[in-house]
Parts: sequence; structure tokens; C-alpha cells
Amino acid sequence: MKIKQNSQILVTGGLGYIGSHTVAELIATGYQVVIFDNLTNSHLGVLENLETISGQRPQLVIGDVTSSSEIDQVFQDYEIDAVIHFAGLKSVSESLAQPLKYFENNVTGTINLLKAMAANNVYRHIFSSSATVYGAHNEVPFKEEMSRGATNPYGRSKLMVEDILKDLSNDPNWEIIALRYFNPVGAHPSSLLGEEPKGIPNNLMPYLVQTASGRLKELQVFGNDYDTKDGTGVRDYIHVVDLAKAHVAVLSYMIKKPVNFEVFNVGTGHGISVLEMIDCFEKTNNIKVPFKIVERRPGDVGEAFADVAKIKDLVGWNATHSLEDMCKDAWNWEQKNK
Ligand code: WQD
Repeated sequence: MKIKQNSQILVTGGLGYIGSHTVAELIATGYQVVIFDNLTNSHLGVLENLETISGQRPQLVIGDVTSSSEIDQVFQDYEIDAVIHFAGLKSVSESLAQPLKYFENNVTGTINLLKAMAANNVYRHIFSSSATVYGAHNEVPFKEEMSRGATNPYGRSKLMVEDILKDLSNDPNWEIIALRYFNPVGAHPSSLLGEEPKGIPNNLMPYLVQTASGRLKELQVFGNDYDTKDGTGVRDYIHVVDLAKAHVAVLSYMIKKPVNFEVFNVGTGHGISVLEMIDCFEKTNNIKVPFKIVERRPGDVGEAFADVAKIKDLVGWNATHSLEDMCKDAWNWEQKNK
């Protein structure tokens, strides 16, 4: 089935951090977008800002994937050609405290969505997976064919959904791509979209920028005794706009040739340590970031970064933003929105 001109793409969680940046890129590429979002981790101001950036207001349906009636209704009201599924919970620490909430939202919610899609003959699905499925046993750089493992309910929920999608793809009607995100950071160059973690941020970049702006007192660096270049944790940070563009790239890849089931890493292929990130941020933005080395954070791995050959070779996508771009855009966002 060819996606029609001006085809409608359903983006669940489309008012969230990665979702909103992807909506902006989809509209810029000529797609019509329907956003399905329960507003638990976003707000209606994001829709206004998307309209400012895109020159058109995406359709918004406020609803929750844990309600099969609410997600079914979307397919009655709109002609959907493909779905990009971001809606889900993503805090590792929260998942340890509330595993059932994570399995209900991330697994049952996805099952509800997939059932609604099949009932309405919509079979193109792009799933927001995570590098966390590589677990703690693999050597870097992580490759898609490596064995997976989960060390927390959040990671297990992503791993379980990947397995559900793989089993579903035994039905040749399904066209499914799972994208394993590494560490998204940064913000839209307009500073109209960005990361808005609720409460004290868990992730490095939002904590770092809030320390630089004085909202937080001091950045804690979780351990400098890892077997890495400078002892601090190494990750594959990718600009959120690059990540958004990767979704548009795989969507057009699916349209060009039917994909039954594929998994792609989405990262830069480079590992950056915490100290390197602090140094880059300070130099790029000419500001000091007070930090202190403390104990390791339980559950952290020392090193995680992607082998990105597969998405580059098959889809023709690669990240183009530099670490400096990530630090500049993250800082601009913090200054305009703190
Ligand atoms: C990055 C590095 C920390 C905070 C998590 C999830 C993953 C994905 C992205 C959803 C590590 C260090 C951090 C701080 C620090 N989320 N750090 N001080 O843990 O790689 O991945 O977020 O998909 O699933 O696991 O990201 O930003 O929390 O940590 O030193 O205050 O920064 O130890 O080395 P992580 P992170």
C-alpha cells in the first residue's frame, strides 16, 4: 500500500521531547500529522510552538494508549497511513519503584495500539526502542544483532515490545521498524522545543544545563573509576533534531520498499565521557559548570555507544550535528525557558 500524498501519520506521544521534534520534521517534509498524547509529560504550549515552527497546527487527540477505546477512536476519526509510537514512560529509576505502571503503559499500551492498527488495516509501525536493551554484557560499539538483556523494568518493557513486534511480523502485512535510541540531547534551534523534565532531572544534560543556569547548585558526576578514557561514564549523545530526522528517513525507507521487521541503532557512533561533555559545554557556552565526583549510580554501565553502519548503509541516514551544536542548543533552550 503506497502512502498517499499528504498522508496522515499518527504520532503517539507527539507533544513529548523527541515526539515534538519529530512532528516538526514530518510537517517540514510534507506529511500531515495527528498527535495522540495524554499530556502527562507535556503541555499544550508545545502545540502552539509546533504551529509557530511549522506554519500549521497539527491535529491533537488527547488520550491514553492504556485506554483501548481512546486509541481505537483515533482510527475511526482519521485516515492513518503509518504510526510512530513514542507514548510511554522512560525513567529507569521510576520503573524500579513502579514496575506494573511501566508494563501497563509501555507493553499493554503498545498492544492496545497494535490491535487498533490491525483492526483498521494500518500496518506501518515505527517503535521507539532504546539502547538500554543491550544490557550490561555487550562490548561497545553495540550492533543490532547482539544479544539483548534488561537490568530494569523500563529496559525489559522495551525488550518485550521488540519481541512482540518480531512475532507480529510473521504476518507479512506488518511493516515494522524498531529504533534503538542512544542518548538524545539538545533542543530545536528555534528554542521553541526542548527537554522539560519534571522535577530534578535524572539525565546528564538537563541536570548540567540547570546547574549552569543556577537552578541547581552542583552537578554530581557519578563515578570516575570506570574502565573508560577518563574514568567517567561514556555515552553516545545524539542531537534530538538528528534523532527526529532519523524517523522521517526510516518512514520514507518503508514507503520506498516494504519492510517486514527491522531494528536500527540511532546514534552518532561516538562515545563521549561525562568530563568531555562538561568541558565541551563550558567551552561552547563560555560558562563554568560546578561539579563534584561522587559514587557510581547503581545500574549504570561504564560505556555505551552505537555501531551505526546499518542505518547508514540501508537507510542512508547519519547524524550531522556536533557535540558543540548539542551544547549550544541545550543552553539556548535553558536560557529561554528556565
Ligand atoms: C549519562 C551519563 C551517568 C546524570 C538513560 C536511560 C536510557 C535513556 C537515556 C530512555 C552516565 C552520567 C548522569 C548526572 C552523571 N532513556 N550522569 N550525573 O543513563 O545513559 O540513559 O537515559 O530511553 O534508557 O537509561 O543517561 O543521561 O542518565 O546518564 O554523571 O546527574 O551521565 O552516570 O554515565 P543514561 P543519563
